[in-house]
Amino acid sequence: MTEDEQKQAAAEKAVEYIEDGMIVGLGTGSTAAKMVDLVGAKVAAGLKITGVPTSEATAEKARNLGIPVVGLDEVNVIDLTIDGTDEVDPEGRLSKGGGGAHLREKIVAALSDRMIVIAEAKKKVAQLGAFKLPVEVIRFAAPALKPRLEALGCTPTLRLKKDGTSFTTDEGNYIYDCDFGKIDEPEDLALTLSIMPGVVEHGLFIGFADLVLIGNDEGVEVIEIETKQAE
Ligand code: 5RP
Repeated sequence: MTEDEQKQAAAEKAVEYIEDGMIVGLGTGSTAAKMVDLVGAKVAAGLKITGVPTSEATAEKARNLGIPVVGLDEVNVIDLTIDGTDEVDPEGRLSKGGGGAHLREKIVAALSDRMIVIAEAKKKVAQLGAFKLPVEVIRFAAPALKPRLEALGCTPTLRLKKDGTSFTTDEGNYIYDCDFGKIDEPEDLALTLSIMPGVVEHGLFIGFADLVLIGNDEGVEVIEIETKQAE
């Protein structure tokens, strides 16, 4: 299967977990977009769900497909969130934020009873870190944070748009893509980043995933994450 077909297969498996009446967190990225398309088709066929989008892009896509969407002012608990990832390790720890939406994605995941992660085979890794870890920072703090991130042992690169100007998130912040190499202690790094003034959110999702669906040449690998640990 091509990577695109693997993403599609994982998305198709994930939507099987959606039940009538659920409040569903809708992830961001190309794999999540396939899931949103499938949810749209189910809604058109009569499924009643309410979506909580994790980005403006997903919100617009969902609305265009006729999926009712709400913000966090209208829901307290989300039944199920389905989202993509940039990496997932054997313990279900994720590196996310390639699409720059990890701040809202993490908030929605944290409010969810269950998180299903969908990805193509290459995202399943033995150890996190080959993908540069996105760290969302307040614009004011960005110049001061660069050397502080370097002091943690990474090479941070300010994310740019294709036109060369700074990429800004839905919340108006900047992103440093941080090359740490292999991340030996994701929990420690997550905590260190979380308490740095000016860092809004990082892409390490630890203790969020309940189920990981990996599309591969054989079909879809279903990985239950047994031990959910708090970040
Ligand atoms: C966006 C994300 C995405 O889920 C992640 O980047 C994976 O994207 P894709 O499905 O396009 O490979 O975290 O912030």
